[in-house]
Formats: sequence, structure tokens, C-alpha cells
Amino acid sequence: MNNRTVRLQKYLAACGIASRRKAEEIITQGRVTVDGQVVTAMGVQVDPSHQEIRLDGTLVLPQEGFLYVLLNKPAGYVTTMSDPQGRPIVTSLLHGITTRLFPVGRLDFDTEGALLLTNDGELAQKIQHPSYEVTKTYEAQVYGRPSAAKILQLEQGIILEGKKTAPAQLHILARKGSTTSIRITIHEGRKRQVKKMFQAIGHPLFHLQRTAYGNLFLGGLLPGKFQFLTGDDLKKIFLKKIPLQKNK
Ligand code: URA
Repeated sequence: MNNRTVRLQKYLAACGIASRRKAEEIITQGRVTVDGQVVTAMGVQVDPSHQEIRLDGTLVLPQEGFLYVLLNKPAGYVTTMSDPQGRPIVTSLLHGITTRLFPVGRLDFDTEGALLLTNDGELAQKIQHPSYEVTKTYEAQVYGRPSAAKILQLEQGIILEGKKTAPAQLHILARKGSTTSIRITIHEGRKRQVKKMFQAIGHPLFHLQRTAYGNLFLGGLLPGKFQFLTGDDLKKIFLKKIPLQKNK
């Protein structure tokens, strides 16, 4: 090892291929070659200035610059980079952006709202790493009128698939007929977590929108539209205190 070498997954992330975790998956899938040899082992050191690294046969080159985008994802789009069922993918909404960006985390097919996309694998990793406890805020429309006791249960944590959820913040926004609109802020990112949480207290949701990452809010961004983010915007993602105003 010399000071020009770097772990293969770190190099792929730095080149904007995917977050480091995702880059590891890509390596395991046998899609990466170093000097023509498929590498599936983790932690292999490479020297990108002397070795040829390819993903699916295409040369992987260092990034020229990082891009950060906030998209208001409409329902009916998947947040994966391709879909075996041929459903629309979110990156098809990034009109005019030729750089390959990938979503930071996921939103379900039927979930709307704030979705960050970037080619900065390190930042994507940081946002998703549990130690940074980046909060995500959602507005959920649920069936029925959850009692104060049930709301408190969700706030304090409930057992989902054998593991207690971390403390959450909930706030009732409106009660309308036999449905309730609730704002919920969590910092975990388990698959379908918000849906499972409301299901667990007997109030399944029928509409879900993510309104913020940390203090970075969707604001008035229209569904299907995106905006470029500045350094100051990115800092807001890591702010932990969530103001009570709606969608500001
Ligand atoms: N929780 C869910 O249940 N679905 C999402 O899309 C995001 C969070």
C-alpha cells in the first residue's frame, strides 16, 4: 500500500457512483473490474492513477464537481436507479442534468416529497449513517383518530420486527371526519418505517409525504420539480432542532 492507494469502495463513492454502502453491494455483485479482473472482495486497495477501474465495463473517473439536488418526488416513481418492473424512476425527472445522481435513502413508490439526490457518496453516507441522527419529517394521513396514549407510544418507541424504534416527535395537525393528519419526525431509516409505526398502533396511513431532512424543508417546491442545493442548505440537513411551523 502507498499513499496513492485507496479502498475500492471508497474510490467508487468518491467518483459519485453511489454511497459507500451501495458501492460495496455493487462490488459484491461482480460489476467492478480492476485492470480487467473482476473484484468481489471487500477492502481491496487500488491506485486509480495507475490502474483501470471499470463499472459495468465503463471507466470510473474522478468527479469534476459535486451536485446536490432536492426533488419533490411525486407518487408513482421508484427511488432505485432502475426497475425490473419498468416503473418510472425518479432520476427521469432531473431534466437537463447530465451528471449521474443517485437518491440519498429511499421513498416508497407511493410516498411523495423531499428526496435528496447527489453524486457525493461521502455526504450520502453521512446523511444515512445512524450516528449523525439526521431527522426526517413526514406528514401522514391516517385512518381513525389515534388517542393521546397511542401517539405517546410512538413517541417513546414501539417494538417493530423485534427492535424498539428510537424516540420520535409527533404532532397532530388536523382531525377531519374519521381521518387524522399527523406530523412525525424520526431519525431512523428502516424500510417502510412510518407506515409500519402507524399500522402497529391500529391506524394505518393512506397518504405519506416527506417534508424535510433535518431543517431542510421542501417548502413550495412543486411535485416533480427540483432545486439545486447550496452549502448552507446542506448544513441545515444536520441541524437537529425541528421548528414547529409547518413545512417552512
Ligand atoms: N416510511 C415509510 O413507511 N415510507 C417511506 O417512503 C418513507 C418512510
